[in-house]
Amino acid sequence: MYYPEEIVEEVRQKNDIVDVISGYVRMQKKGASYFGLCPFHNEKTSSFSVSPHKQMYYCFGCGAGGNVFTFIMNYENYSFSEAIKMLADRAGVALPEIEYNEEMKKKESRRATLLEINKEAATYFFYQLRDKHGQLGYDYLKKRELSDVTIKNFGLGYSNKTSNDLYLYLKKKGYSDDLLKDAGLVSFSEKIGMCDKFWNRVMFPIQDINHRVIGFGGRVMGDGEPKYLNSPETEIFDKSRNLYGLNFARTSRKGNMILCEGYMDVIALHQAGFNQAVASLGTAFTSGQANLLRRYTDQVLLSYDSDGAGTKAALRAIGILREVGLTGKVINLEPYKDPDEFIKNLGTEAFDKRMEEAENSFFFELRILQRDFDLKDPEAKTKFHNEIARRLCNFQEEVERENYIEAVAERYHIGFENLRKLVYGYAAKTGLAKEATRLKSGIQSKEKKEDSGVTAQKLLFTWLIEEPKTYPIVKKYIEVSDFTHPLYVKVAEKLFAELETGNLNPAGIISMFTDEVEQREVAALFNTKLAALETKQDRDKAFRDIIIKVKECSYQYHTEQMGRDVSALDKVIKGKKALEELKKTHISLE
Ligand code: UTP
Ligand code: MN
Repeated sequence: MYYPEEIVEEVRQKNDIVDVISGYVRMQKKGASYFGLCPFHNEKTSSFSVSPHKQMYYCFGCGAGGNVFTFIMNYENYSFSEAIKMLADRAGVALPEIEYNEEMKKKESRRATLLEINKEAATYFFYQLRDKHGQLGYDYLKKRELSDVTIKNFGLGYSNKTSNDLYLYLKKKGYSDDLLKDAGLVSFSEKIGMCDKFWNRVMFPIQDINHRVIGFGGRVMGDGEPKYLNSPETEIFDKSRNLYGLNFARTSRKGNMILCEGYMDVIALHQAGFNQAVASLGTAFTSGQANLLRRYTDQVLLSYDSDGAGTKAALRAIGILREVGLTGKVINLEPYKDPDEFIKNLGTEAFDKRMEEAENSFFFELRILQRDFDLKDPEAKTKFHNEIARRLCNFQEEVERENYIEAVAERYHIGFENLRKLVYGYAAKTGLAKEATRLKSGIQSKEKKEDSGVTAQKLLFTWLIEEPKTYPIVKKYIEVSDFTHPLYVKVAEKLFAELETGNLNPAGIISMFTDEVEQREVAALFNTKLAALETKQDRDKAFRDIIIKVKECSYQYHTEQMGRDVSALDKVIKGKKALEELKKTHISLE
């Protein structure tokens, strides 16, 4: 733990979870909890719940959950110590200087140092641009009609033609060669020693949503290769979890986001007032980035280059957006190549208009597809219609599918019934509506069938949290060592101690863990879905089943352990006895 437990607890208690999450997710009160659309996976009905009583959140859809720290860590992509700093700040709690142990010190300070190095480099490039060596870069940006304000807002800079000046500059600031290499700013070669990665390039600092520089893109001056050089992924630069321009776009509140291809596109759009523009980072658009976008909008407008490569990239992006449940629309930039050129020639109002007229991405796909078919040839035309039918099968929801069939039939002059027959014929052949595979923000789907013993342990935790008065009965049969997973044992230890003294504090238990994966697991333990049981008999039976199952699981576990550990024998003998007795006992909740 970085901070003393009392401080962590104080910060947590002073940040009411409903208050904090309300700042990010629109929620409605239903019964004792608040419900809203989960920000961590794609959904249309609210399964994301926040309990003021437990001070925890949990999503019944994807299993995301935790306390207020977990939420901030996940949502803002913060480490635990960054999250606690933010929440302490929010609540006006002064944090003490942290006493790091050696390993944590290393890890924390490495991240911080890498950020610091990037910031120093950005500052250096920034001044180079204004220096006489930077004239080339400055002229280029001026030729691209960027104003000084824009240049400053985006922190644009220049890496000059000297091949190791940044290295020397940073070295003088005291950073080691290894750190500079790990920051992706310098490299080593036998021939010339340490040298800068970027030279003779206009530099685009890439910022995370908190405006911290995490990497760079650099555009070569002249015709060098590659045209754009980008920082490699580093410990602080995860290309699939960031978007260029998102630090500004996320607060633009335009009701949509414009996704474009390049740094210059984003900057030109922002300068023209479209500050909701973002771009991927020198790599193709990823599903991680699509998820990121989904937090801010359900309307993504694609503004990719109108050439072949741009169209191909747009088609790919549409597929990725669809995967996370976003329907993109495509802005037509013809006759211009990209949004920058378009706005320079036709102005912002024309661009506004093109945004309004943006084409539904499905129709965009069909329009591109159509180019491959000669519709005057009946053979090709049939093939085209079959392909349309195949694609229509991918709409999972009946109403949506029917609507598309209708719209497509009209647009392509196909009889509605004919097209419908084609679609359902195709569906019958192939098995319609294959379950959409949804891969959200690295959160695993819960498809894997869970071991019943594990389920019982989770149910027991939830039961204890929901109805602490059952504890005296539980403790007659179950002890901490009956849990079969190190994390469960840790949780049980704390939970049983709290129940013993009557100070139940589940959200506090979550803060014992600083790792977000563990926090999430603990939250799941406290939020297992308990069946709604009406009669006392049913409840008694369910309760008894759970206790027996946990005991059985414990017995099995310790039996397996015995092979490795002699001291388990004692547990096994006791466990067997307890289990036999338990099966004869009538357990009642009251
Ligand atoms: P473009 O070649 O379309 O660049 O690549 P652009 O933004 O229109 O640039 P200008 O106007 O010619 O300066 C689009 C994006 O693809 C990535 C960059 O992120 C760029 O912004 N890219 C392109 C690379 O990473 N490397 C390259 O060599 C080229
Ligand atoms: Mn371009």
